Amino acid sequence: MTRFTVNNQPVEYRMDPRTPLLWALRDASNLTGTKYGCGTGDCGACAVDVDGGLRLACQETIGALEGTFVTTIEGLSKDRSHPVQQALLASNIVQCGYCIPGIVMAASVLLRSNRNPSEEDIKGAIPNICRCGIYPRLIGAITDAARSARGEPP
Ligand code: FES
Ligand code: FES
Repeated sequence: MTRFTVNNQPVEYRMDPRTPLLWALRDASNLTGTKYGCGTGDCGACAVDVDGGLRLACQETIGALEGTFVTTIEGLSKDRSHPVQQALLASNIVQCGYCIPGIVMAASVLLRSNRNPSEEDIKGAIPNICRCGIYPRLIGAITDAARSARGEPP
């Protein structure tokens, strides 16, 4: 049995400890906001927060997470109120949406450590793949989110 915390709730997974976190979240906890894209650590669709750092759930085994605090897109904020979510909604750039949970998680981790990220900072922190190609306007949306998080007007 593996125990850790997901979205501020203690969880116990009676699964093979080699099970990827992605499948524990989706299949056992029904937290399907964390997406499966590549399964090889390349696309970022499965990004989650583990103890304040960005991790790829397809590359983490649950056995290695004993005692950690995991936050998924479902636990990031209630009612899409995180500044990154608000900025994405306001910018109206979301297309199919499949990549968005991972991007939101990556951006939220970035903004926690860097309140005023440059374009290069954003590109470096958010390597997520978006098949719909929202990259150019994504930089602007995350810059807006950082401004909002600092309490500055849009
Ligand atoms: Fe994990 Fe693509 S599904 S990085
Ligand atoms: Fe469709 Fe990014 S909005 S994959």
